[in-house]
Amino acid sequence: MRMVDIIAKKRDGHELLPEEIAFFVNGFVSGDIPDYQMAALLMAIYLKDLSHKETAVLIDAMLHSGETIDLTGIAGVKVDKHSTGGVGDKTSLVLAPLVAAAGVPVAKMSGRGLGHTGGTIDKLESFTGFSVEMSSEEFVDRVNRHGIAICGQSKELVPADKMIYALRDVTATVDHIPLIAGSIMSKKLAMGADAIVLDVKCGSGAFMKDQKSAVALALTMVEAGKAMGKETVALVTDMDQPLGNAIGNALEVKEALESLQGRGPQDFMELVYALGSRMVVLGQKAHDLEEGRKMLEDLISSGAAFAKFKEFIATQGGDADQADFPETLPAAKYMREVKAPESGFIHRLEADLIGHASMLLGAGRATKADVIDLGAGIMLRQKRGDRVAKGQVLAELYANKESLFAEAEKVVLSAYKIGKKAVPGPDLVLKVV
Ligand code: URA
Repeated sequence: MRMVDIIAKKRDGHELLPEEIAFFVNGFVSGDIPDYQMAALLMAIYLKDLSHKETAVLIDAMLHSGETIDLTGIAGVKVDKHSTGGVGDKTSLVLAPLVAAAGVPVAKMSGRGLGHTGGTIDKLESFTGFSVEMSSEEFVDRVNRHGIAICGQSKELVPADKMIYALRDVTATVDHIPLIAGSIMSKKLAMGADAIVLDVKCGSGAFMKDQKSAVALALTMVEAGKAMGKETVALVTDMDQPLGNAIGNALEVKEALESLQGRGPQDFMELVYALGSRMVVLGQKAHDLEEGRKMLEDLISSGAAFAKFKEFIATQGGDADQADFPETLPAAKYMREVKAPESGFIHRLEADLIGHASMLLGAGRATKADVIDLGAGIMLRQKRGDRVAKGQVLAELYANKESLFAEAEKVVLSAYKIGKKAVPGPDLVLKVV
C-alpha cells in the first residue's frame, strides 16, 4: 500500500477502505508517513469529506493508536461528558462533583488547552496544591473510594489525535465535522466510559457557528458512539453569548462554587441540569430526566454536592478550605468597569469577542509555553435580552497590569450590540440528538 495512492483516491472523492485508513493512521504515528503527505490527505478529506462508515473506522484506528484506559475495576456505570468548548464553560467543575454526589462514578481526564481561558485543570489549579498527577491504579482507587477523580491527559492515550491535531491546526483543517468527531470520540472511547453525554456548542464562540453544522457534528458523534456500543446522547447548546457570567480561571471557579451552593446564574444552571439529568439516567441512578433533575437540585440544596467538591479537591492535594473562603483564591490586582454607551436592550453579546478580550487580559494562552494569569478575566453584568441604561455597568475587567485594560475594553464594547427593541433572552438547549 502507498500513501500517495490513498491521497489520490480521496482527492478524487472515493471512499477509503478500512485497511487504508488504518494504514495512514498507524503509519503517521510510527513516523513512516511524513507530515507533508498527511497534510495533503487531511486537505483532501477536508474538501471531499468522510462517510459515516469511514469516520467510524477512523475513530477506531485512532483509538487503538496508543494505550486505552481500563475502568472495569470501577463499580457502576461510568458516564463521561465532553463539551466541544466555549467561552465561560465551567460546566465540568459543577457537573463532576454533582453527579458524583448522585452516585455516578466520575473518572475524568481533562486538559489545559489553548484558548480564551485555561482548561478544567488550569481552573482547578486555582486551589493551592491541587494536582492531577497520579498513576492509573491511584486513579481507579480514588474513583472507587470517593466517586470522583480527574487526571491530566496522558501522552500514551490516542497519540494519533495529538499528532493529527497539531497538523490540522496549521493546515486550516480543524473545522471539519468528521475530523472533529474522530478527535473527540477516539479520546472519549479510549477513556473507557460506558456512556457518553456530549455538549455540542453552537454560535460565535464555538467551532460550529450555526445550528445546522452543530447538529451534523452531534449526529456524527452519536452515531459513532453507538457504533462502538456506547450509549451516546448529544445536546446542541447556545454559545453565541458566553455561558454564565464569569470568564477567567479563578473567576470561573468562584462562579462554580456559588453554583454548587445554589446561587448559580440561571443559564448556566439550566445547562448543568440538562446535562446532569441525562448523566444520572444513563448512570442508572434515576429513571427519567425529571427524577434526575429533582435529585440534582436536592443534592445542591442539601449541600451534598458542595461537600463532594471539597472532598474531591482535598483528595487531589488541594486546599479545600479555600472553597469556603473564595477570597483566598487567585485574584487580579486591578478592576475596570465597562459602561453602556447608550440605553436600550442587549441584542447580542458575541462570545468570541469576549473570549478574545479575556485572552488580552491574560486569562488564556495562545501558545503552549504561555503562562496563564489565574486571577484575570471578565465578569459580565448584562447579557442578551437585558435592558440597560446609558452609563450602566456592562462588564468588569480584571487584570494584573492596568495597561491591558484599554484594548480589552474596546473589544468588550464591540461585543455588545444594543438596540431599541426588547428581545427575548436566548434558549440554552437548542436540540437534543
Ligand atoms: N476538540 C477536540 O478535542 N478535537 C477537535 O478536533 C476539536 C475540538
